[in-house]
Amino acid sequence: MNIEQFIQRLPKAELHMHLEGSLEPEMLFSLAERNGISLRWPSIEALRAAYEFANLEDFLALYFEGCRVFVTEQDFYDVTAAYLTKASEQGVWRAEIFLGPQSFTERGIPLEAIMGGILGAIKDAHSTTGISAGYVVSVHRHRSVEDALQVLDAIAPWAEQVAGIGMGGPEVGYPPGRFRPFYLKAKALGYKTTVHAGEEGPPAYIREALDMLPIDRIDHGVTAHGDEELMDRLAANQMPLTVCPLSNLRLKGFPSLEVHPLKKMLDRGLRVSVHSDDPPYFGGYVNENLLACSKALNLSPEDLAALARNSFLGSFAPPEEIQRAVVAVNHHLDTFWASNQSHRLVGTD
Ligand code: HPA
Ligand code: ZN
Repeated sequence: MNIEQFIQRLPKAELHMHLEGSLEPEMLFSLAERNGISLRWPSIEALRAAYEFANLEDFLALYFEGCRVFVTEQDFYDVTAAYLTKASEQGVWRAEIFLGPQSFTERGIPLEAIMGGILGAIKDAHSTTGISAGYVVSVHRHRSVEDALQVLDAIAPWAEQVAGIGMGGPEVGYPPGRFRPFYLKAKALGYKTTVHAGEEGPPAYIREALDMLPIDRIDHGVTAHGDEELMDRLAANQMPLTVCPLSNLRLKGFPSLEVHPLKKMLDRGLRVSVHSDDPPYFGGYVNENLLACSKALNLSPEDLAALARNSFLGSFAPPEEIQRAVVAVNHHLDTFWASNQSHRLVGTD
């Protein structure tokens, strides 16, 4: 078994991926055509060529523009189904997917279309591929807290089917603490919670999230790497950090993957895992992220298994499902060594 096969067959949880950012350019064009929406790119190739970003905000402008092509329940269904098919093909056992309803409801798209499409596709993907998936309803930090609280009210009819609550959007200038009332309410309602922090924002934003928000995990968290005291704290409380290396690279968080802090954080005992964020925009789904990191950071099979174990331990899946998956990761690692051992024996015979 080579490293590509090891990664492909490794059971994984994808915890950090935005449906709005999972649109392959071909699908973006076909949804635009289906809904009679004109695009400013003359071709699919021209759109793909526009995937050059100076930073998060620069990317988000294109990402929000792409949201215009989602209109009907079928659109939300199709995008979710396409992503879950891809994830299942990559050996993802559990997928927790974000979508921020505010981009759509502000254009008059009913929440019923969003929820019906996403939850319907999650159910059907489970029946056809066996993948376990959940929808993490996300709000935008550049909008008001009142607006975020309204989202919580609006999703109440679907509360039992919602996997968790998150927050994304431009980070610098929008520290997370302002959303304390929103997170307190989400927790009081029984939701699992996560927040984007420490993608571009300083370590102080991560501290603020830890101090002020009742959160079960942090999305990104990589700017903690230079702050030893914060690293100790994140290791001590085993706060899951959903790291997106190709996203960090493409949004210029780090000049190369070789200097990405993933391995340092893993070696320090932090509960880091690897995810794709917005796969077509950043050049890879979860396996491409793992493979690129394994090459750039010289990750061992043990490192990759630890990342996979962390992905399940940080997930919002039921505890029995997490336990089963962790056992499967360990078994996969054992199988890898057993198969490579026998190859070596065959080779030296
Ligand atoms: N950060 C914040 N918001 C986002 C991102 C991200 O990386 N991707 C999509 N929305
Ligand atoms: Zn994200």
